[in-house]
Amino acid sequence: MGNCFAAASSPKGDSAMTSTSGASKAISKSTTSTLTSGATTMTSSSWNSSIESLPTPRSESEILSSSQLKAFSYNELKNATRNFRPDSLLGEGGFGYVFKGWIDEHTLTATKPGSGMIIAVKKLKPEGFQGHKEWLAEVNYLGQLHHPNLVKLIGHCLEGDNQLLVYEFMPKGSLENHLFRRGPTPLSWEIRIKVAIDAARGLSFLHDAKEQVIYRDLKAANILLDSEFNAKLSDFGLAKAGPTGDRTHVSTQVMGTQGYAAPDDVYGFGVVLLELLTGRRAVDKSKVVVEQNLVDWALPYLSDKRKLFRIMDTKLEGQYPQKAAFAAATLALQCLNADFKSRPEMSEVVAALEDLQLSKSAAKKHSSKNQTGPDPARKSHLSHNRSPLNLTPSASPLRSHQSPYRRG
Ligand SMILES: Nc1ncnc2c1ncn2[C@@H]1O[C@H](COP(=O)(O)OP(=O)(O)O)[C@@H](O)[C@H]1O
Ligand SMILES: [Mg+2]
Repeated sequence: MGNCFAAASSPKGDSAMTSTSGASKAISKSTTSTLTSGATTMTSSSWNSSIESLPTPRSESEILSSSQLKAFSYNELKNATRNFRPDSLLGEGGFGYVFKGWIDEHTLTATKPGSGMIIAVKKLKPEGFQGHKEWLAEVNYLGQLHHPNLVKLIGHCLEGDNQLLVYEFMPKGSLENHLFRRGPTPLSWEIRIKVAIDAARGLSFLHDAKEQVIYRDLKAANILLDSEFNAKLSDFGLAKAGPTGDRTHVSTQVMGTQGYAAPDDVYGFGVVLLELLTGRRAVDKSKVVVEQNLVDWALPYLSDKRKLFRIMDTKLEGQYPQKAAFAAATLALQCLNADFKSRPEMSEVVAALEDLQLSKSAAKKHSSKNQTGPDPARKSHLSHNRSPLNLTPSASPLRSHQSPYRRG
């Protein structure tokens, strides 16, 4: 499981999967329905979230004219990034290079570096296969979807071969950088769970939207962090509208990046959760063969309370609550269920993670004992879990869910 496909040459340079039909389909539907608070049904938090007019308008000009995004000129973005100076490179993905830039907060015109508002400018690689579809998919979805756990798109630029996207700047970069690169401060357990919750909320928002959206590219490199480690999903190049009509069919063509098994966002989330627990990459060719595929390697340990510590990230130095870690491992296992119909809904994943986080803070409040030591006095919220998931691996398989986008 998890390595049932081989890497192929694809638009995502980072050993990604092939993508031949993907985003183009996402821009071929039309309605004008309105949804203003899709997120409120998912968690206890009240968010200012909105999808203004999904599903997608029909034509490119409709997509461009229907959003509130600023249309930048190439020159403006050249000035804002100091001619795309290599030392302002924030990151590189399969589709583009991302540079740091500065604009005036109100007029959105280029400013001197260091003054005004910082932005992130993605310049799509000119050789990018299907590049324009990815560009349009991002403009389409991020132009309409607004949620605290989705990165904010400010504008775009389309001039000749130059295709650019302008986002809010995420000061702490990607989860990938924090989790896998050797840095001075590894992510704490609390931050890992918070990141998992944020990413799950973002996905849940997309899945529970009236006109469902499948993200299809969940991975650590696409989860960005702000200055307070709030996590947001970015990179909507592969996003796609969920099924309509009889709501029974969705393309199962493999998309995204090897090891994350898109298009199923829930499976991809399970992989990311595993990465957060173990500090290991979904696929790591530098490891011995049996350890190269994270899911294959970790699976046997996830359902055994006494063995789980063997795969936990050593960078945590044992600083995690065992019970919560086991609950998170159980949740990952459920997301990675070989039977996709038995995987939980993302709203259930959110609830389970919130419970897990809650039980942790309650434990902290009532106990000054070592985090990792047993605490018989502690009553786990998970035992009377308000989430419909039963976070014990021995529990009977999850009920079959009605999520339409994973059918077919
Ligand atoms: N808004 C942003 N703020 C800070 N860094 C960013 C931002 N957007 C992207 N990056 C960095 O650039 C990398 C590639 O961006 P991404 O949008 O995923 O490109 P691609 O579509 O080519 O995969 C990310 O993994 C991250 O490190
Ligand atoms: Mg990316």
